[in-house]
Amino acid sequence: MSHPRPVPLTAGKPGPLSGRVRVPGDKSISHRALMLGALATGRTVITGLLEGRDVLDTAQALRAMGCPVRKTGAVWEVLGRGVGGLAEPAGDIDYGNSGTGVRLMLGVVAGNDIRVRFVGDASLSRRPMGRVLSPLVQMGLEVEEPGRDRLPLAVRGSADLLPLEYRLPVPSAQIKSAVLLAGLHASGTTTVIEPEATRDHTERMLRHFGAHVTVATRDGQRAVAVEGDGELEGRPVAVPGDPSSAAFLAAAALMVPGSEIAIDGVLVNPTRTGFYATLAEMGADLAFENEREEGGEPVADLRVRHSRLRGVRVPPQRAPSMIDEYPVLACLAAFAAGETRMEGLAELRVKESDRLAATAAGLLANGVPAKAEGDTLIVAGGRGGVRGGGIVATHLDHRIAMAFLTLGLGADRPVTVDDASMIATSFPEFQGLMEGLGAAFAAPEAAA
Ligand code: S3P
Repeated sequence: MSHPRPVPLTAGKPGPLSGRVRVPGDKSISHRALMLGALATGRTVITGLLEGRDVLDTAQALRAMGCPVRKTGAVWEVLGRGVGGLAEPAGDIDYGNSGTGVRLMLGVVAGNDIRVRFVGDASLSRRPMGRVLSPLVQMGLEVEEPGRDRLPLAVRGSADLLPLEYRLPVPSAQIKSAVLLAGLHASGTTTVIEPEATRDHTERMLRHFGAHVTVATRDGQRAVAVEGDGELEGRPVAVPGDPSSAAFLAAAALMVPGSEIAIDGVLVNPTRTGFYATLAEMGADLAFENEREEGGEPVADLRVRHSRLRGVRVPPQRAPSMIDEYPVLACLAAFAAGETRMEGLAELRVKESDRLAATAAGLLANGVPAKAEGDTLIVAGGRGGVRGGGIVATHLDHRIAMAFLTLGLGADRPVTVDDASMIATSFPEFQGLMEGLGAAFAAPEAAA
């Protein structure tokens, strides 16, 4: 589908960054809050919902399937249709750039006796859908062109799905969530076994809405089970700040000499904090302050000061807890002393772009030796700064755009990204918040 005109943007070296900010709501939790609100009976009121394009696409998809979703003042309200209560949409559901949105929604649609055709932008249309379709078809979802693995995709759900026991073939919270959401509509218990723990927001929120969910360890692996044919009840949801968005601000403060910033109200669920654990190993001056629980999720205020960093090896087991943070970690590693090796990154190849290739190419364009070897990304830091001056191809990928604009704040010469428009999918406030801390961005002509 169409996407906005590319908007090139350049980041140059600012003075020290300082200030206290909040980042917008977590994207994963925002999608789930809207979807569970729609599957519940009664009213769900959401505060702190991320108003990025990806999440707004979920709101729009639910409206198209007969579920009222609206913003009143600062809160969002969903009037739930109950499990299995969605209506057939009149036209295609356009999921834009959002892999999470479409994959989770396939799980939701699976349990409704409706036909839905999903479409998306060029990036989303390249991404594999077979990983969610395979278990959902076993449960009873019909795909109009069997075997089709990409959008556009027409599917028909069913009012009586079969329960399933499913072992994840790759560590993916999206697959786990799609199966659990479909499992709500099945007659019996649906279990997902995950060899490596992935973000657990779906199981936490299902419980919050009154579903029967159990989590057990089987042969050292996590098994999450949901009882089908139950009812969910509308609940209030408070969405904490997105740690994946906060990562860009934290990285900027670490890169720019003299910086000290605070980011309040950030989600610090252990399935999401691998990036921050890695920063600590690199020698970052970073603290989680005022740790507390909000709406069933752990939250903290982050304080970050500019630091001299050292390169580290990031083990493959850590990948699920920081999967979206590798591009910005790789940019930060360019400023660290020594080599940083990030292992087990096969999943990065199927994100909004091939992030392994895009990150290595962006670093090389800015004078940083970097290479992708199989599913390992290697960055050589410690070369007395980063040259910069490059133009980075973002391939419709918001996180590639933000990672390299962040690199530009620390580099000797400005860094340009070919398109900053996709940042609005997950973090529309990125530029404004960074500028509030003292960062400088400009259109490339103005920066030249
Ligand atoms: C997400 C899971 C991750 C992540 C994505 C959000 C989620 O994808 O990259 O940004 O909300 O479940 P995978 O499950 O494909 O790893």
